[in-house]
Amino acid sequence: MKEKFYITTPIYYPSNKMTLGNAYTTICCDALARFNRKLGKDVFYLTGTDEHGQKITQSAQKVGKSEKEYLDEIVADTKQLWKLLDISYDKFIRTTDDYHEKTVQKIFTELYNKGYIYKGSYNGWYCTPCESFWTESQLVDGKCPDCGREVKFQEEEAYFFKLSEFGDKLLKLYEENPEFLLPKNRVNEMVNNFIKPGLTDLCVSRTSVKWGVPVEFDSKHTIYVWIDALSNYITALGYGSSDDSLFKKFWPADVHVIGKEIVRFHSIIWPAMLMALDLPLPKQIFGHGWLLFGEGKLSKSKESGAKECIDPRVLAPRYSTDAVRYFLYREIPFGSDGGYSTEAFLTRINADLANNFGNLVSRTFSMNKKYFNSQIPQYLEPTNQDDIDFRNNVVSNVNDVKKYMQVYDITKAVTSVLNIFTEANTYIQKVQPWVIAKEGGQDRLKVVIRSLLEAIRIGSELFYAFAPNSSSKVLEALGLNPTAEFENLDNFKGLKDNAQISELEILFPRLDVEKELKELSEIANN
Ligand code: MSP
Repeated sequence: MKEKFYITTPIYYPSNKMTLGNAYTTICCDALARFNRKLGKDVFYLTGTDEHGQKITQSAQKVGKSEKEYLDEIVADTKQLWKLLDISYDKFIRTTDDYHEKTVQKIFTELYNKGYIYKGSYNGWYCTPCESFWTESQLVDGKCPDCGREVKFQEEEAYFFKLSEFGDKLLKLYEENPEFLLPKNRVNEMVNNFIKPGLTDLCVSRTSVKWGVPVEFDSKHTIYVWIDALSNYITALGYGSSDDSLFKKFWPADVHVIGKEIVRFHSIIWPAMLMALDLPLPKQIFGHGWLLFGEGKLSKSKESGAKECIDPRVLAPRYSTDAVRYFLYREIPFGSDGGYSTEAFLTRINADLANNFGNLVSRTFSMNKKYFNSQIPQYLEPTNQDDIDFRNNVVSNVNDVKKYMQVYDITKAVTSVLNIFTEANTYIQKVQPWVIAKEGGQDRLKVVIRSLLEAIRIGSELFYAFAPNSSSKVLEALGLNPTAEFENLDNFKGLKDNAQISELEILFPRLDVEKELKELSEIANN
């Protein structure tokens, strides 16, 4: 039986202003999903939208629509964006889906029946945009510590989840599984700032919020959005429904990938909920950093002053989806914050995609055309030390890519893929195939060109997870199926002797950076 791999993004707040920053988690998960499929695993990649809460009602009212009408449009747009970005999700869940709402009710009732939820009364400072309650001491200058906006004092009857009972269990979890939350530096913050000082019970219902899932046994209460939202990771698999085969197959999740600002919900509340439900915990949670623009996070609210174009709907069609994806993987060390700049983006396209990858493919294909009529030279064992070294270098990079992907180090992994192309370009300069061709070393020429074609094959197989479009074109030109599982990554015998290679168009045209900068800034400022 195939090994399974269940990976999730957070479910997104509906927004019609999705930036590169918003798309970051989904783009990163996509590389992990694709890579694990190529490793031969049975992958389930989940994403979706988080559609309840007061904020939705307010936004819908502003444009004179019902919540559902408003949401349907945004969800359709979001799906289109994921299509544009080549996101290969297996399921898209909406928290307004019937099956999800029903199971959320069941989960709430079960927690109540087990004594983990009780009725009380709540007062505190509520931030509507963030849908979070804060205590007086948590406020910063009297405002929401997360977004800096106004908060309102509210008091109401509410249900509470006994989060306070889970402190010791959570501490034990982190002690026994130091890799449960990655990168490891996020653990200290959770343990020292939240768990050790003592967890307080969590308010999990509201009577003032109407747009949400009603409590099954007390319908004037609406279930707290985070209880509703976190449950998506299991409701999407059919947990609690008449068909829970996906749940049985895929749960526990192999990894929940999330942005650092929502680590607290995933590493404290979610495990506590699962413990209370007697369900296995996810194997890992990965809290990535933020894509930064100027001083702050690229968010819907702060991006308006942006002078650079950060709209994936403009950038992807203009420079290719692969370029957008590649830049994010390569530039922002996965797990840390990283700055975005248009200039860095354009420069990387030229340096890494046009001059390195693209140029390698085009010069190798044209040499192969010239010397071997575009047929793949027959495999011969190398005897020259330069050829042997080159092959060993390629294989060592392959091992690095696999090793890094295993620990979700997307940035180092993609860098190692590009190293394969760099090695190949350096090898061409070093051995100078055109000199070998002139001096009549026909067998050596076969070894060299075959080695280059194989390096391109191996590199493109690995690059497929990150830049699926251009890699597919190269693999297809070489007569291979891009979605096939990895094969022959550690040897130079993956291509068929004498097979015909098809012609390829330029993969990444070189950009005039100055001109592009000017045009993009005009677009951004309009
Ligand atoms: N709805 C909640 C998640 C519920 S999961 C049970 C939510 N949604 S969100 O739309 O605000 O965020 C979705 C993802 O986008 C998060 O992982 C968030 O970190 C990510 N990003 C949004 N802007 C970002 C950047 N500027 N940089 C990197 N990722 C950030 O939170």
